[in-house]
Amino acid sequence: MKTIFSGIQPSGTLTLGNYLGAMKHFVDLQNENNCYFCIVDQHAITVPQDRMELRKNIRSLAALYLAVGIDPEKSTLFIQSEVPAHAQLGWIMQCVSYIGELERMTQFKDKSEGKEAVSASLLTYPPLMAADILLYKTDIVPVGEDQKQHLELTRDLAERFNKKYNDIFTIPEVKIPKVGARIMSLTDPEKKMSKSNPNPKSFISMLDDEKQIVKKIKSAVTDSENEVRYDKENKPGVSNLLTIYSLCSGLTIEELEQKYAGKGYGDFKADTAEAVVSILAPIQKRYNELLESEELDEALDYGAEKAGRTARKMLEKAERAMGLGRKRR
Ligand code: TYM
Repeated sequence: MKTIFSGIQPSGTLTLGNYLGAMKHFVDLQNENNCYFCIVDQHAITVPQDRMELRKNIRSLAALYLAVGIDPEKSTLFIQSEVPAHAQLGWIMQCVSYIGELERMTQFKDKSEGKEAVSASLLTYPPLMAADILLYKTDIVPVGEDQKQHLELTRDLAERFNKKYNDIFTIPEVKIPKVGARIMSLTDPEKKMSKSNPNPKSFISMLDDEKQIVKKIKSAVTDSENEVRYDKENKPGVSNLLTIYSLCSGLTIEELEQKYAGKGYGDFKADTAEAVVSILAPIQKRYNELLESEELDEALDYGAEKAGRTARKMLEKAERAMGLGRKRR
């Protein structure tokens, strides 16, 4: 049995990209593995958040985790700030990180570019992420492609710590899906679909209703060829819709290309929207039942306690390895 860890930020409503690139795979993994799934609220506050919105988003994300099929009896589902060992080991991992390597992270460059007041935590975000993962002796981290660089840094930091202090951390492997690791924006298919994009037409939220989904896919940017063919370089918009359609329907991209041979984009877009609705509608139904339920709080309480017990042990090992605190006489 392997240990799996992954996290999602509660920084807005999740997109179809978050679902197809990450969440969907969590559900499959939980049957055979020891899984930890985290709502990383401390990562979310690296950029300004409205207090009420953040609280709402944390609960909403927890409900979504359960609604997609995360089973709290099989997986440990918890909120990062409810397990203090994350911030504590996060500090230690900052102490083994170099400013230069943190400045080289593309996510830091993207988020800080052109901004006057950039929080220090935006730079030190990856050591906290490393701490999240290393606290649980994680073997595998399932994520979308945009997290690959952070995972490489996590491995470097763990190896550095093990060499310098004591060999305590498991070196995690990254697991990126073959299809859907980078779902692109509907309005600008050269960019990834992101929940922080101010234009709601650019992404499908996991909570969008049928009308919104149909409208957004109908207006998704394609090209003037009118040929349904996968070609990421020359036809990024159509290729993105093909990926989405394939993942939501279970049909391969080749099967879809054949299905729409000689047809225009109209039918293709309408059917893509239908496939997305058929995946999201049952999740939304369950989500609405869970959002205000006690079941949700019980799952999170149980998860925080279980994660806390495991995390504390690893934190103590790391503190001991570095000589923090004291030895009782
Ligand atoms: P976050 O919250 O931005 O995204 C959550 C997960 O969704 C994936 N993802 C996508 N996959 C495909 N296409 C897209 N357009 C797309 N957009 C997002 C992300 O790759 C991610 O897997 N730093 C992380 C959160 C984190 C974490 C961790 C992850 C904190 N600690 C420890 C793993 C392990 C983040 O910001 O993800």
